[in-house]
Amino acid sequence: MTGPKPRPEVAAMHAYVPGEQPKDARLIKLNTNENNYLPSPRVLEAIASVGERSVARYPDPVCGALRESIAGTLGVDAAQVVMGNGSDEVLKMAAEAYVAPGGRVGYLWPTYSLYPVFVQKAAAVEVRLPWSIDGRSQEEALDAAPTDLALAYLTTPNPPFGLPPDLEAIRRFAEKRPETLVVSDEAYIAYGGESALALVKEGLPNVMITRTFSKSHSLAGMRVGFGVGSPEIAGVLNKVKDSYNLNVTAQAAAQAAWEDAEYTERTVGRIVASREQAAERLRGLGFTIPASAGNFLFAMRPDAPDLFRKFRENSVLVRWFDTPELRGGLRISIGTEEEMRVFLQVAEGLCSQ
Ligand SMILES: Cc1ncc(COP(=O)(O)O)c(C=O)c1O
Repeated sequence: MTGPKPRPEVAAMHAYVPGEQPKDARLIKLNTNENNYLPSPRVLEAIASVGERSVARYPDPVCGALRESIAGTLGVDAAQVVMGNGSDEVLKMAAEAYVAPGGRVGYLWPTYSLYPVFVQKAAAVEVRLPWSIDGRSQEEALDAAPTDLALAYLTTPNPPFGLPPDLEAIRRFAEKRPETLVVSDEAYIAYGGESALALVKEGLPNVMITRTFSKSHSLAGMRVGFGVGSPEIAGVLNKVKDSYNLNVTAQAAAQAAWEDAEYTERTVGRIVASREQAAERLRGLGFTIPASAGNFLFAMRPDAPDLFRKFRENSVLVRWFDTPELRGGLRISIGTEEEMRVFLQVAEGLCSQ
């Protein structure tokens, strides 16, 4: 074939497969771990008050007000914060800034399946640290990891099972590898697990955390996330980010959501309560379910692929991953109380047949 040729590593790359975003609003959507409650009413007020003048101009390139607000709540300096178009962008920037071609990037496996895409794009080398719920623990996998990593993505709590690696294991991992950028991906931290922010605050120079507004603040559609690390790390990432990566509306919405912490706490609390109830009911239906600290459950039963299809036929969308480690289970995002009531009714109908 003639025509322009992509870089070989891009030609060989497998694109990330996002969960389905269905058009049919009647489907109960439990497949991409959003917070299905509506955002704080203050978010819509903030969006409505974005004036015509600010829409006509470029947004604040450094998200000054939002960064100050986040830094103030977390007790860090604004210079330690980097904003991203979703936390995905911050995770991507970490690879762009810290991994040279041929560099090694580690992560516990299974985990978030976007990391391999960053590795392939960077022409880097993937180092999987295998673990399983009934075998080697995440902590054992971390302790046995090689030391020559340029970057490690450690996800806490770690999807799709939702188990958070122990913070002390993350500390040991980071202390033993001073030249590795250790990114604690905390997309789901509002729902459980211990944050590595404590390590950043203690001054571990190679640790950063990433967080998102998608999973706990009901703002997945706005695409806002951030990272917190040393001023040096945040400075490097701010150097590689796109100049105007967060639009005016996203900045206003995120700030309103962040500052209505009480609202977020309430919806998160309801989701955690629904998660525990759903886990108990599903175990009663013969599913094996690890104790998730996220806003999702990984529910295992031998007929999982078949059930995935049947849930869909009954207007319930959950996630099924066709990989050797995961095809025996369904990842079920925890929706609103009403959605979970319907979901459990359907589950009971399908599983007691
Ligand atoms: C572990 C993990 N990190 C990051 C993200 C992405 O979050 P964002 O919407 O902020 O890009 C996800 C989304 O599924 C995730 O599961």
